Amino acid sequence: MDVREEMLNLIRNRRAGFSLEQPFYTDADFFRLDLDLIWYRDWLFVGHDCEVAKPGGYFTVQVGDYPIVIVRGRDGEIRAFHNSCRHRGSRVCAGERGTSARLVCPYHQWTYDLDGALVFARQMAEGFRKEDFGLKPVACETTGGYIFICLAEEPADFAPFRTLMAPYFAPHNLSEARVAHETTIIEKGNWKLVWENNRECYHCAANHPELCKTFPEAPTVTGVNGAESDPEMLAHWAKCEAAGLPSRFRIDPAGQYRATRAPLLRDAVSYTITGKRAVARDLSDRVALDRIGTLLLYHYPTTWNHVLGDHAVTFRVLPVGPQETAVTTKWLVHKDAVEGRDYHLQNLIHVWTETNDEDRRIVEENAFGIRSPAYEPGPYSEMHEGGVIQFVDWYAAFMESRLADSATSHWRNVA
Ligand code: FES
Ligand SMILES: [Fe+2]
Repeated sequence: MDVREEMLNLIRNRRAGFSLEQPFYTDADFFRLDLDLIWYRDWLFVGHDCEVAKPGGYFTVQVGDYPIVIVRGRDGEIRAFHNSCRHRGSRVCAGERGTSARLVCPYHQWTYDLDGALVFARQMAEGFRKEDFGLKPVACETTGGYIFICLAEEPADFAPFRTLMAPYFAPHNLSEARVAHETTIIEKGNWKLVWENNRECYHCAANHPELCKTFPEAPTVTGVNGAESDPEMLAHWAKCEAAGLPSRFRIDPAGQYRATRAPLLRDAVSYTITGKRAVARDLSDRVALDRIGTLLLYHYPTTWNHVLGDHAVTFRVLPVGPQETAVTTKWLVHKDAVEGRDYHLQNLIHVWTETNDEDRRIVEENAFGIRSPAYEPGPYSEMHEGGVIQFVDWYAAFMESRLADSATSHWRNVA
């Protein structure tokens, strides 16, 4: 049986409310289908616009087989390109980030302007047309301080996401923030296990002693059900919205992204062991209220986020292999906050550094057990794992429609 049919059958026959069959978490061909049908088609969060604050600022990212470079042009626009030279294909930018007046391929020095145009190619034949060999563009959008790219030839409309997200993020002014610290960890587990673990706090009490000092494990916070009837959430939204901070729970009809604001425990204002602020200076000058809790945003398949009053923590998920996922965490502070004066780095990053490592171990143990021939899908807790059920349903629905589509177009081509 063709791998597409095999996956489609398993999706159509899956037991709702149960984890997926083993190959979804382990199989190289299934992983390839995830890349083709989700990662190469959907909008992906890659980084923040404040990371390329000036013209010529660039950073690179690897999505499956695609090396990509994101660069701010002289006109202030942020653009993304395939990081593959139009001469013989070398990577043009090999480093993770930098600033450059032009992008120069290290192999034979073909030179591209910041808008991707080829401006210099030494001693090519008469009649060589530089305008035919610019860097290939990748769709790129920015909103609320976030840069998204899409590898599809015809990207889905970005506007609905922007409409939902922009009002929630505007007051926090992330475009003017600064990344105080960044880490990337590799978790030896399929990207879906990373997400499943993220979408519930059923595991928090036993595994996250640091985070549990300030972050509520209530499913109304982590999950997608019941927030609207949780009196604490309602009171928090009313308070924050009165102060001009959009807060209530919103999710897109397909379930791919949601934003909501949640209170932290007791009088906590930040993710520190004491619950006290980690950064003396507020993240944004536009937020007057104290105790705004955390603004939560997820967007499948690449990002979940916490925006607090004093800093923000953002996460980027990228698949490395069927059983390997890179998770990049960034701590953002006000651009004028000074380390040593306004914050101590260890204090700022401690809770999520520990939490990430705890989650890495959880995901790796989960992956370990799933590799057993004895593994079979197990039931999620409806009370605590509603968010996981929602993620898996989103994944299954997306994959099913795309597998069905591609089967139709395949047969059309054959005919
Ligand atoms: S491959 Fe880039 S200049 Fe030759
Ligand atoms: Fe966790």
